[in-house]
Amino acid sequence: MPAPTSDSRPRVSVYLGVSLDLQIAHADGSLEFLDRHQQHDYGYDAFMADVDALIMGRTTFDTVVGFGVAWPFGTRRVIVCTHRPLGEVPADAAPWVTTHTGALTPLLDRLAVEGVRHVYLDGGATVRAALAEDVVDALTLTVMPELLGAGRPLFGADVPPSRWELSGLDRWPNGAVQLRYTRARTN
Ligand SMILES: NC(=O)c1ccc[n+]([C@@H]2O[C@H](COP(=O)([O-])OP(=O)(O)OC[C@H]3O[C@@H](n4cnc5c(N)ncnc54)[C@H](OP(=O)(O)O)[C@@H]3O)[C@@H](O)[C@H]2O)c1
Repeated sequence: MPAPTSDSRPRVSVYLGVSLDLQIAHADGSLEFLDRHQQHDYGYDAFMADVDALIMGRTTFDTVVGFGVAWPFGTRRVIVCTHRPLGEVPADAAPWVTTHTGALTPLLDRLAVEGVRHVYLDGGATVRAALAEDVVDALTLTVMPELLGAGRPLFGADVPPSRWELSGLDRWPNGAVQLRYTRARTN
């Protein structure tokens, strides 16, 4: 089988809730600013219906497991980027969870060969690494009407410049705005 090209890689989508000052979590890693705005689903279910695998950073995986609720990703493959063993994984997650260390491009090429078409990429450092590798195709940011001040910024100096096309825009009565961008591959 020929090596997959970038065209045959799964589409990679980032879908994040952010504060008005583009933070993805409070300084202690908690997510109260998102919890306060859970009266809408912001298109999450429709987005997830089209996703067949997830790649997430270790912090995000530990956060989801720490919620102590039923595993929310069903039978989709979940690849956790980490340098360390996962330890005990909840029984309802264990069959679907594997780990990965290092660059994302070879992982995406492997997933393509395995038939994965659409990846939901989640996390902070992991998203920035994917942007640095230029493997993110779609970026959906749901902006909550709150300034956090101290927090965990989504973007940083490790993210290289890139251009994006607006593919959608929505607003909700609570003041949340969703910006949907796709990567403009002309530069
Ligand atoms: N607002 C939202 O929508 C949203 C969504 C997701 C997460 N969050 C929150 O945002 C924060 C994200 O934290 P974070 O920036 O630490 O992000 P993260 O991307 O979830 O996790 C980063 C960690 O993943 C591991 N890792 C990442 N890339 C790797 C690679 N290529 N190879 C090996 N290991 C790799 C490293 O952990 P080790 O070296 O320790 O293994 C790294 O410290 C958390 O508080 C989370 O709950 C918010």
